[in-house]
Amino acid sequence: MKKILSVVGTLAVLGAISTSVFAVEFEREIKARQSVMQIYAFNLGILGAMAKGEKEYEAGLAQTAANNLNAAILMNNGAMWPMGSDMSAPGLAGKTRAKANIWTSFPKVVETHKSLAVASAAMADVAGTGLTAIRSNIGAVGKGCQSCHEAFRAPKK
Ligand code: HEC
Repeated sequence: MKKILSVVGTLAVLGAISTSVFAVEFEREIKARQSVMQIYAFNLGILGAMAKGEKEYEAGLAQTAANNLNAAILMNNGAMWPMGSDMSAPGLAGKTRAKANIWTSFPKVVETHKSLAVASAAMADVAGTGLTAIRSNIGAVGKGCQSCHEAFRAPKK
């Protein structure tokens, strides 16, 4: 009996270790993709604040923010999204809000990203030309973010 208990104990410890190794396995990828999202949000935030009149329009800054946003969106981030690195994986609850349907929704998820890329390229074409240009393009960019989040990102707890 004692032996069985200690075997069970050992298995439980092994289980805990393999769970944490599993989580650590995806930690870098999750951190990287969340950082890319933060770069999106930072640059879109500058354009959004200008569009709302909360920040004074400044052509150089607007153009730079739009260029940065577009460059980040054009990066190939495939390696940051390894299959199984979703919030339902052991050890990943609370570390990622990526839903498992990302990996079962091809090509929809790729198309969602592409429509954002079209909108951000249009923004980058004109952001330095004036506030009106930002205002007429920002809706499509925001929609590109939102449609993906609605489908593939879990709400904040
Ligand atoms: C193709 C889908 C997709 C698109 C397009 C997309 N996102 Fe995300 N975003 C996600 C997913 C999935 C997560 C959750 C990632 C995770 O927690 O691992 C996320 C997370 C985030 C986060 C939280 C990052 C963190 O630190 O946890 C921010 C901020 C964000 N996105 C902003 C944006 C903005 C701004 C845009 C548009 C310019 C955008 N996203 C476009 C899918 C997308």
